[in-house]
Amino acid sequence: MKKVFIETYGCQMNVYDTELIRGILAQHGDVAFVDDEASADVVLLNTCAIRENAHVKVYNRLEQLKPRKRKGKLKAIGILGCMAQSLRKSLPDDEPMVDIFAGPDAYKRLPSMLELAVGEDAQATDFSLSEYETYSDVAPSRIPGVNAWIAIMRGCDNFCTFCVVPYTRGRERSRTLQSVVDEAREAVQSGYKQITLLGQNVNSYRTEGHDFADLMAALGELRGLERVRFTSPHPKDFPLRLLEVMGRYENLCKHIHLPLQSGSDSVLERMNRTYTREEYLSLVAQIRATLPGVSLTTDAICGFCGESEADFDETYQVMQQVGFDAAFIFKYSERNQTVASRKYADDVPEGIKTERVMRLNALQRRVSLARNRLEIGTEHRVLVERASKKNEHDWFARADHFKGVVFSSHDAQPGDIVRVRIDEAYSNTLRGTELPG
Ligand code: SAH
Ligand code: SF4
Ligand code: F3S
Repeated sequence: MKKVFIETYGCQMNVYDTELIRGILAQHGDVAFVDDEASADVVLLNTCAIRENAHVKVYNRLEQLKPRKRKGKLKAIGILGCMAQSLRKSLPDDEPMVDIFAGPDAYKRLPSMLELAVGEDAQATDFSLSEYETYSDVAPSRIPGVNAWIAIMRGCDNFCTFCVVPYTRGRERSRTLQSVVDEAREAVQSGYKQITLLGQNVNSYRTEGHDFADLMAALGELRGLERVRFTSPHPKDFPLRLLEVMGRYENLCKHIHLPLQSGSDSVLERMNRTYTREEYLSLVAQIRATLPGVSLTTDAICGFCGESEADFDETYQVMQQVGFDAAFIFKYSERNQTVASRKYADDVPEGIKTERVMRLNALQRRVSLARNRLEIGTEHRVLVERASKKNEHDWFARADHFKGVVFSSHDAQPGDIVRVRIDEAYSNTLRGTELPG
């Protein structure tokens, strides 16, 4: 029996992939999953490559694992996922400590790779990307909770020039509508209250005559499914019909994560985002007109190649104008293989990138606080996720629009839907009082 510990880095897609990996390994027997590295024979790191600091985290982790590996207490270390895939050319010689390298489409071969690495003490690598693998025949072994992740597609064909994902996850491919609905139904039957659909660009989901709006409508109809979320759509193709479907069903949450990346047309063009600032703004207006009360969140990158102070100002202005409920703001990090790394100079000095990130974050904190304050006095049905870390009678829940709400209760449980009134607002949470019924 091999005792396996899996650690997950990166995005929700990786969290879901870890559940698939657990499902695949469990099916092949002779594996037990443990919760800590100290008691494991095998440590698998499911890694991310999106920014350089994602790589740094993994290298640091490998350093920590080295002593146990050298003493023979750890039989194998595996690097899985996006970083494995993106490093494939510079490995394996660089990392003799690592026994397994497996890219995101190679997980079905993990049982035999593990056998080779542990049984025969040989290195096992698989960097093949597939145009077809969707793992829709694999049952994920989910971590208990209120939310079940479901990847509806894999890969990405957008080739934003800054982004490594098309190289680490390969071509875009969608699962069948039926396989997603079946997986959602099984999750509901196992007690999950919320489904979050995952894809690098969910609104380019296509399968046998169905699109993403059809899939959402099918899930809107699914009995017992309290909440459906999705991440992320790309602003370039956001059909009105999808907004109408979202409006029609109560269980389709009124929250859209709509990555802006930049508010400057020339930067957007160099990024190959294929929309302009005006197109983005008119999409926001259409979303708000169709779905009143919707919350909007976004991603932005500071210091992309050639970003001038005037370009940055435009991002600042768009963020101010839209008034996002929350935003993730990143420093541009050049990635190998990408068009930007080949074509453009990473010419914004580190100090300026940092300063721009800080300015946008400061703006966003003010905007989030102002938007959250508008919630004071309103009532929400919130889904309880977990006990709050600070106070034993406090619970952390989320409203339909994704905002976190903390409230006190003696008898709440994860998975409950509770009615609360919002009393206090901070920049990243709300505080409420439980209402009867
Ligand atoms: N597919 C998703 C994005 C996944 S990556 C989408 O298009 O919405 C999540 C975020 O990481 C991106 O939205 C972008 O803001 C950021 N990101 C991607 N590559 C980056 C890079 N090279 N440097 C800094 N941030 C990056
Ligand atoms: Fe990367 Fe762009 Fe694809 Fe998102 S849509 S994963 S940012 S290439
Ligand atoms: Fe996700 Fe990181 Fe890969 S963000 S898709 S795990 S590069």
